[in-house]
Amino acid sequence: MAKKPNTDDILSKIRKQGAGNSDAAGDGSSGSTASAPVEKPAAAASSGGPTDILAKIRAQGSAGGDKSAEVKPVAKKAAPKSPADIMAAIRSQGAPSGGAVSAAKPQVASGASKGETVVAAPAGDLPPVDEMLRQLKTGKVGSVAAGVASSRPELKVPVKPARKSAVVAASGRRGFLSWFAMAWALLAVTSGAWVLGIARFMFPNVLVEPPSQFKVGSPSDYPLGTVSTKYTASNGIWLVHTDQYEGKNLIYALASVCTHLGCTPSWLEGEQKFKCPCHGSGFYMTGINFEGPAPRPLERVGLSVAPDGMLEVDKSVKFQEEKGQWDDAKSFVDASLV
Ligand code: FES
Repeated sequence: MAKKPNTDDILSKIRKQGAGNSDAAGDGSSGSTASAPVEKPAAAASSGGPTDILAKIRAQGSAGGDKSAEVKPVAKKAAPKSPADIMAAIRSQGAPSGGAVSAAKPQVASGASKGETVVAAPAGDLPPVDEMLRQLKTGKVGSVAAGVASSRPELKVPVKPARKSAVVAASGRRGFLSWFAMAWALLAVTSGAWVLGIARFMFPNVLVEPPSQFKVGSPSDYPLGTVSTKYTASNGIWLVHTDQYEGKNLIYALASVCTHLGCTPSWLEGEQKFKCPCHGSGFYMTGINFEGPAPRPLERVGLSVAPDGMLEVDKSVKFQEEKGQWDDAKSFVDASLV
């Protein structure tokens, strides 16, 4: 079976026939042009004239279907695995790779919608961009939006720091307010202290002392030969009932003040004497000094019987033995009469 000629073969034949006809016409013109008929070549006779050949070509073109069917198919590209891979391939294909500038320019694909630019795929391992976009649209490899979102680098918006001048101003205001409040607090405390001091100055310094005259009970409360220390701490006196001074049965009150330098002696019941702790002065029950540096006997204070029969002490008056004042009736109470 004869091989069907393709378009190239037919075109080469046409060119050859054209050359042959021109040669034949030249020969005829040079020889007898009117009487000698032009002999057509056998090939042209068998296959028709150039018009027929062109008609054949057109017929082949129409009968052969789409020319793209004769175009050598593009080698099958490896299908993209994920939208991220597709987007990476698009970026890599979109960048010029050293070829012609025109080749690097993006081309609008025939299947793209209005306003949609698709970058033509350069030669490489991956399929063309329009094919990958088509796959994305048909949902074969997932959502384009998801791929684009996953392939996009994370947009990190830097946090705009507050203006340094504003921060410094705010901290300065806070510091000023705190110092201002502290100053006012200190002023208030100082003013309060001054007010309290002035108020205290308005009141006199009064030494609160027990009254100089006070009652100490009935004479029967003080038996003969005893020294009572009941009012020593509170009123500074001893109440003595004795008959050792000049043989008289007397009750009297002695001031608990040492006649040496003013210390407070203690009554020693076992030794029956008053003993000063400061320098060792000693006094008998009667109040007469007998040891130590004390130069004179203890002093008596006034004692009397009140109208109610109670003994009443009067510390406002004192009686000194060396001056003969113990003979004063106000310095003792005769126990034999009460
Ligand atoms: Fe009492 Fe000196 S004060 S002995």
